[in-house]
Amino acid sequence: MNIELTEEHLAVRDAARDFAQNVLKPGVIERDEEQRFPTEEVKQLGELGFLGMMVSPEYGGGGMDTVSYVLAMEEISKVDASTSVVMSVNNSLYCWGIEKHGTEEQKQKYLVPCAKGEKIGAFCLSEPEAGSDATSQQTTAIDMGDHYLLNGTKNWITSGGTSSYCIVIAQTDKEKGHRGINAFIVEKGWEGFVVGEKENKLGIRASDTHTLLFNDVKVPKENRIGEDGFGFKFAMQILSGGRIGIASQALGIASGAYELALAYSKEREAFGKPISKHQAIAFKLADMATEIEASRLLCLKAAWLKDTKQNFDKEGAMAKVFASKTAMDVSTEAVQVHGGYGFVKEYHVERLMRDAKITQIYEGTSEIQKIVISRSVLKD
Ligand code: CAA
Repeated sequence: MNIELTEEHLAVRDAARDFAQNVLKPGVIERDEEQRFPTEEVKQLGELGFLGMMVSPEYGGGGMDTVSYVLAMEEISKVDASTSVVMSVNNSLYCWGIEKHGTEEQKQKYLVPCAKGEKIGAFCLSEPEAGSDATSQQTTAIDMGDHYLLNGTKNWITSGGTSSYCIVIAQTDKEKGHRGINAFIVEKGWEGFVVGEKENKLGIRASDTHTLLFNDVKVPKENRIGEDGFGFKFAMQILSGGRIGIASQALGIASGAYELALAYSKEREAFGKPISKHQAIAFKLADMATEIEASRLLCLKAAWLKDTKQNFDKEGAMAKVFASKTAMDVSTEAVQVHGGYGFVKEYHVERLMRDAKITQIYEGTSEIQKIVISRSVLKD
């Protein structure tokens, strides 16, 4: 593996760091408290090219590699995981899939505005009864000749309220199992497309997560992505790439919490010296730094495999399962290092601890990642 960072990588990382520290940090506590979507911040993120980082410039993107994406996701997530999930879903679950498998017409209409950050995209797979078991889709899209008729309910949709376009996975032929599933691009505002209530969440509270309902929505034939029956494989491929984004989000939450704990431990004195000089705290910092470094290497390895056109399914799942556990462990320990101060909002670590939990759940739970990893190692 060669993941020596180039000047360009470092410039992307520094730009993301500046944006996170100067633009995202000032209002992050209030947005979390009020569950307020970072509208202005996401707009600026788009103007800087972070919403379509890996999309080719031909389609309005930044033309960057996945390593750059990992570095940027880490920096944004150190400060504001609510904003970074919008960035991750738009980049990985929405833009990447359309660029890889969409028609030229679909790319011009639905990719370009989202790659430029003028609009936001969402990805709709999970249902009330089908989250991990992705083949059990109850949402149906019936072929009516010149269009499909879409009916069903999708749950836990990141950017469900703010997105303009959604990739929706639906069953077109139950008899065919996973080969009877398709992916469609669906526009907000189409008749029968209803945005349900916003979820009141433990973490990533400024991102908007909704249930979406489709009641006899007419989807033009040309909005199906790929050949008939390609939808399940499409979703699996997209989620596999998305897991690198969420692993990097978890890495960022962990390193953000660690940096706060490190700084606090040097300032705060107890028993006549900074608490960092007590081995009880120094060992916690050593464990945090080690887990973070291992997470970063796993994320970069998966990104490098993707950039060099090699299979990254196993490594992406490894990165996600390890980095998300690290995010939980490190953020919990960061609260501990802060003592009582860690339990109040001004010190940021309690939010990072709440945000960390979702990284073990969305885009495939840790248990799903272990299915992917174990199948791969048993096959090797
Ligand atoms: N790339 C391409 N094809 C793939 C693939 C991949 N990564 N993984 C599987 N496939 C193919 C298989 O090769 C197989 O094809 P063939 O039959 O032609 O050989 C087909 O897909 C079926 O594969 P499996 O038999 O492995 O399928 P399975 O039913 O056993 O499921 C699973 C496997 C890994 C458990 C899968 O269902 C899964 O990943 N589930 C989790 C889904 C998930 O992540 N849900 C939440 C996402 S949405 C979200 O979080 C929203 C948000 O807003 C953030």
